[in-house]
Parts: sequence; structure tokens; C-alpha cells
Amino acid sequence: MVIKDIDSKLIITKFAMYGYNVHPSAVEVLKSLAPSKLDGVIAEVCRLANGSFIITAEDILPILDAIKSCEKKVESQKVKSSPSLQPVSELDSGRVNIVKDITGNSCCEGSVEDFVAYFNSRYEKLSRLLRNRVNPIPISSVGKVRAEKVEVIGMVNDVRETASGNAIVELEDKTGFINVIASGKLKEVAMELLGDEVIGVSGILKGRNLIADRIVFPDVPMNGVKRNWGFGVAFTSDTHFGSDAFIEDAWNRFVSWLNCEIGDERSQNLAESVKYVVIAGDIVDGIGIYPGQEKELAIVDIYQQYEEAAYQLDKLPKRVKIILSPGNHDAVRQAEPQPCLLKEHASLFSNNVIHVGNPALVDVEGVKILIYHGRSLDDLVTKIPRLSYEEPTKAMEELLKRRHLAPSYGNRSPIAPEKEDYLVIDEVPDVLHSGHIHTYGTSFYRGVFLVNSSCWQSQTEFQRKMNLNPTPGIVSVYNGNSVSKLKFC
Ligand SMILES: [Fe+2]
Ligand SMILES: [Fe+2]
Repeated sequence: MVIKDIDSKLIITKFAMYGYNVHPSAVEVLKSLAPSKLDGVIAEVCRLANGSFIITAEDILPILDAIKSCEKKVESQKVKSSPSLQPVSELDSGRVNIVKDITGNSCCEGSVEDFVAYFNSRYEKLSRLLRNRVNPIPISSVGKVRAEKVEVIGMVNDVRETASGNAIVELEDKTGFINVIASGKLKEVAMELLGDEVIGVSGILKGRNLIADRIVFPDVPMNGVKRNWGFGVAFTSDTHFGSDAFIEDAWNRFVSWLNCEIGDERSQNLAESVKYVVIAGDIVDGIGIYPGQEKELAIVDIYQQYEEAAYQLDKLPKRVKIILSPGNHDAVRQAEPQPCLLKEHASLFSNNVIHVGNPALVDVEGVKILIYHGRSLDDLVTKIPRLSYEEPTKAMEELLKRRHLAPSYGNRSPIAPEKEDYLVIDEVPDVLHSGHIHTYGTSFYRGVFLVNSSCWQSQTEFQRKMNLNPTPGIVSVYNGNSVSKLKFC
């Protein structure tokens, strides 16, 4: 049967498959499209939806414009167009764009005003994301409105268990505080809440308490679309150059593999496909990071550690661009967001190394990679009993769910009170890449590829005492379609 026009129900169903609701205005716009273009446009709209849970005409029109202008360009160049719709991002040039990075933008001095501005920014950004699914009233108005059910958005101040076995969550917005009572299944959710995260709650007022029937996280929308990027990205981290536990043999095998010197034909083809290497921090082992570290160093001078790092990265093929972000072992400020390496260290590296801060959102040929070293994973594993260092991506899921890279303020991950909260995950990335805890793991969460890279350091004495068991020498390569796990140990 030939479909002559596009049925509204068909459009609604297609969006539902991606996990989105669609506004009637958007349906009307899409009904005017040629049926052959519908799937491609919907896929692209959902890919770029970035947190919207209801797709409106405003989400669609700019994408249709971009597609039209690309088509015109192609036509004018007399290039034969592809029969299927080309996603807009694939028409980008092969550049790396740093979309978000604190480097050069830090302006905090640690004053009271800075802290107020920081928490306001966190609240504003996260509550904006929640407003798609929660219709809040100010907390100070709860009790004054006649509605039976109320919805609020607030920052979590405190969570504790009551004598009667429920959870009590103290929630705050700019207008006041309220106690939220969560029982049954919701109690389990509430007991995993972290201080300073922003959530939505709906419930019924009883006395001065809000009895919750729903707790809403900012979360990322469902996106099941995968597309082959046409190149591979190798994800690694925690090289710890300068440590006496650096596993040089394994690193050299990785270098040889990426230079297509070892492995069978299939493996060499995979190596050849790698256009980018992303390193998520702890490039060097640093100095004075933990008590007694000096006994575990092969290179005791920080400058020489970076010289060694530059020398080792120089062995990677020059066709590969290296995106390098720092971690807590690097010689930059410890509070997150961290800027990129200092000029005196960064200048030691070759031109194919791109220095970014931690975190950094980079756009690699239309693919958004969010790099975060991962210090807050320590906080999550400590706070939520079901999480563990052995399954790092389960903890990473919690970051996406909370749309924040370090949801809990003032624990093991120090945060600088910048006027803008750079740790909020404003844009939904294609990849979230972290390291720090030295255990390897990959998975997908709502279409986002999660990778916690392992490390190039065997278990140190400090880690042995802390009962941390690293899984070193593993690299993953992802091309948007399939993940390859490569072991060099
Ligand atoms: Fe590390
Ligand atoms: Fe680290």
C-alpha cells in the first residue's frame, strides 16, 4: 500500500518509540513532510531533543530548516544526494569543538556571594529540566492552595529515616522548606537521594508534611537511535606516568596496536579506524597526592612526569587526535571544574594533543563526548549501598539520572563555587566517559554510551590498603554502533 499522507497516530507512535511525547503543533508540521523523510527527521529531532520530554514545533522547525539548507547546498554542488536522509551532524566538518569547559572562564573567589550564585545556578538549571514533567508551585505556597495534590521542585537538604520506618526528605527552594515523607517503594528511592541534588515531588499535604506519591529526577530522555559515526574513538584514562606501578609492557602493546603493528587483519582494521583517543584524567601520578606516595614514584619531579607523558603520547600515530582532560593526580587546581593543564606542561605535548578541562563537553565531528574524571563516583559508591567499584557504569547512570556530575556537594569531590554550575549535564551527550576508580566498564543508559576506562597502573600499596582492585590495561573503541573491548595486560 502506498502511504499518501502521514497519519497523526503514526507520528505519535514513532516518537513514543523513542520515549518522547509530541505536541499537536509538532504533529501538524511533520504531516506536511514527504513520508519518505519522516523517519530520518524524527530520528534527528529525538537525537537533538536534549532533555525535552514533549517535542514541540519549535524543536522541529530549526532542524527542518537545517536539512533544507543542506539539501540546497548539495544540489547546487551537483553532488548526488543520498536516498536516505542524512543526519545534520554528519554534514559537519571533521573538527573538534570544545562546547563546554571552565578553562579560561573561572571567576570564583570563594566568597559568600559566589556560593549563593553557584547554588542558584545549580537550582535554576536543574529545575528548568524538571519543569518538562513537573508543574511546581513555590514551596512557601504549599498549604495555601486549594488543590488536593501539589507538585514542588526543590534541592535536597537532608534525608533521614523516621522512627516509623519512613524516609523524611527536607526539600528547599528559594521561598522556603518542606518535609517530604516517602514510604514503601518511594522510601527506597528517597534513601538514595544525595544532599544538594534537585528533584521534583508530587504529593498530598498532611499537616505540615508533603506525603509523596512521586519523586521525579531530571534524567535524560530515552534515545534508542544508534548511527555509525564512520570512525572509532578509543577511550582510556589514568595513565599515571611517573608511577612505579605504571604497566609499561601493556602500554607499549597498546601503542603498537594503534600503530597497526600487531594483531590480525580485523584488529588492525579496527586500529586503523581510530581517529581520536580520549583520556579522562590522571595523566601523571603527581606529587603528594596521598600519604607516602613518594615511595611509589619512579619520577619524583612533576615537570619530568609531564615530559614522560608527552614522550609516551608522542608514540601514538599522528593521524590520531588525542583529547586530554586532567584528574585529581594532575598539577591543576583540585576543585572541580578543573581547567586544562598549565601552559608549561601542556606545551610539552605534540600538536595532535587537544587540552581540555575536567569536565569538558567536546563535539567530535557531531558526536558529543562528555569527559569527566569521575571523583564523584567515590561519593556515590560510598552513599548508595547497591553501587560498587566493580560496576562503575551503574554509578555513572546515577549521574545522568541526576543530570549532575557531582550531585553531592562537600564530600570527596571538592567543587569550586563558580557563578555557573559547570557540572550540571545541560546537554545530553552521546558518550559519558570517566575514569578515576581504575575499573573498566561499559554500558548504555537511555541511548548514552557509558564508559569508565581502566588505567595503566597496577595495584598500588595505597589501593591495596583501601581494598581497591583495579582492572588495568583495557581500552574500549566505540564507533556509534559497536563497542570493542581490547585487553593489553
Ligand atoms: Fe587514577
Ligand atoms: Fe583520579
